[in-house]
Order: sequence, then C-alpha cells, then structure tokens
Amino acid sequence: MARVIVMDLSRHNTVLVGHDRYFVLHTEGRALLVLDRCPHRGGPLSLARRTPDGRRLSCPWHGTKVGVAAVKRTSLPMVRSGDEAVVVLPDGDDEGGEPISVIRKEVLANLPPDAPCAAESAGEAAGAVGAGEVARR
Ligand code: FES
Repeated sequence: MARVIVMDLSRHNTVLVGHDRYFVLHTEGRALLVLDRCPHRGGPLSLARRTPDGRRLSCPWHGTKVGVAAVKRTSLPMVRSGDEAVVVLPDGDDEGGEPISVIRKEVLANLPPDAPCAAESAGEAAGAVGAGEVARR
C-alpha cells in the first residue's frame, strides 16, 4: 500500500523512511526528492559537491562521480504546489511500519560548483587561526 506525505519545502529538505534517506535536489529548475545514497558504498550524496561542469556529484566519502541524471532516476513521485509537495513513498518492507521523519539539513549538492561551503570556510578560518597561534609561540 502506497504511503503519501505532505512536506513544506520552505522548511524541510530531507525525508527519512526507515533506513533510507531522501533529499531535495534542485536541478534544471526543478526540485526532486532523490535517494541520498551513493551507489559505491552508500555515502551521503546530499553532502556531495557538484563537479565544475555541474553534471555530476562528487561523493564526499571516496570521491566517486555520480551523474546527476542517474541521481534523478532515484527520485520519488512528487507533486508540487508552491512550497507544498505531496510525495508518494516507496512501499515498506514491513507493511508501512517504518518510521517516517521530515527534517531540514545542510545539502551541499545544491550549491553552485565553485561556491565554497560554510563548513570549508569555517575550517579554513580555524586553520588560519591555528597557524597564527603556532607562529606566535
Ligand atoms: S560511498 Fe560514495 S564514493 Fe564511496
């Protein structure tokens, strides 16, 4: 039996269904709810950065380049009306008993290819401070 949820895309960008996670990927002017799992060993594609040509996601775990077209094929059926999205979830293994959560988390895969992420910027800043501290001693 199909399960349907309604999510507010202005507040949430991730859906957890049992052990599976889906995130909202913005591509070609569309928002798609896609599987957050790298085909190599399950890394979080939501934390992948786009390659310079924008056509692939570089997995943060081992660097596999996953085509955005392949990621799009994992998308769930979703109908949008403004920020409201009605999503049809996959059938669960245990007759729909899997817990479902809708959350907001950082999604790096939607950043432009050349934009530095906040975490990298903070890390670089922290590294610069650390180097300065060492130099003063
Ligand atoms: S899990 Fe993505 S490259 Fe290994």
